[in-house]
Amino acid sequence: MAVSSDLHHQSREYWTSVTTSYLGTAAYYDAQEKVLRQVLASYAPFPSALDLGCADGRFTLVAAEHADYVLGVDLNPMLIQQARDRVQATQGGRIGFRVEAVDEQPELGTWALVMCLGVTSCVISPESFDNVVRLVRACAQPGGLVLLKDTLSRDEPIINRSGQYVAMYRNRDAYLAAFSAVGLEFRREFPLSETATTSNALMVFEVAQSNP
Ligand SMILES: C[S@@+](CC[C@H](N)C(=O)[O-])C[C@H]1O[C@@H](n2cnc3c(N)ncnc32)[C@H](O)[C@@H]1O
Repeated sequence: MAVSSDLHHQSREYWTSVTTSYLGTAAYYDAQEKVLRQVLASYAPFPSALDLGCADGRFTLVAAEHADYVLGVDLNPMLIQQARDRVQATQGGRIGFRVEAVDEQPELGTWALVMCLGVTSCVISPESFDNVVRLVRACAQPGGLVLLKDTLSRDEPIINRSGQYVAMYRNRDAYLAAFSAVGLEFRREFPLSETATTSNALMVFEVAQSNP
């Protein structure tokens, strides 16, 4: 499927200008939080955690309950400010937030836990998706844990457009293959919502000990 770079830039502009990332129902995000807590508790503790596309930091702070230090990054300065406002004075120094575009190969170091929740469907062009896959892998330490959450297509990729919003629902097999190719081992998934053509789930990957 040929994807115009216009759609990629449209998605970037959309996500740079919104004041909330909550496009689903409260029940959906509550279910995400419940599953995230369950997964983190089963692998914790983490010396360090990175949340790529952290939005207002809701899930970054959940990770912080199980990690010594957490960094959240997002394209959107307003959401990063909301995230900073959530941090209690007592948590100061343990939780940081930074404006970064994950498709522009930022230098973020390596982390025991890397979360990238609901982000790759915002990254429209194939080149940018490849950049994000490489970034996720580069940020994950050997033996570390990677959590992804996305809407994926059971068949052909789907572009979902509504007003300025645009999302790319990639083919599930191709998506898993892209992460497998960089050495992330798919372990299990927790379905969060389904349609006739798509599934949305939190996916658990472990980092291969040796480089691919
Ligand atoms: C659908 S929201 C998901 C937010 C949160 N992680 C969650 O699970 O609810 C996608 C987030 O990714 C951010 N995002 C989109 N494209 C990005 C990019 N290229 N670089 C960094 N962040 C991006 C958006 O600003 C938004 O906060």
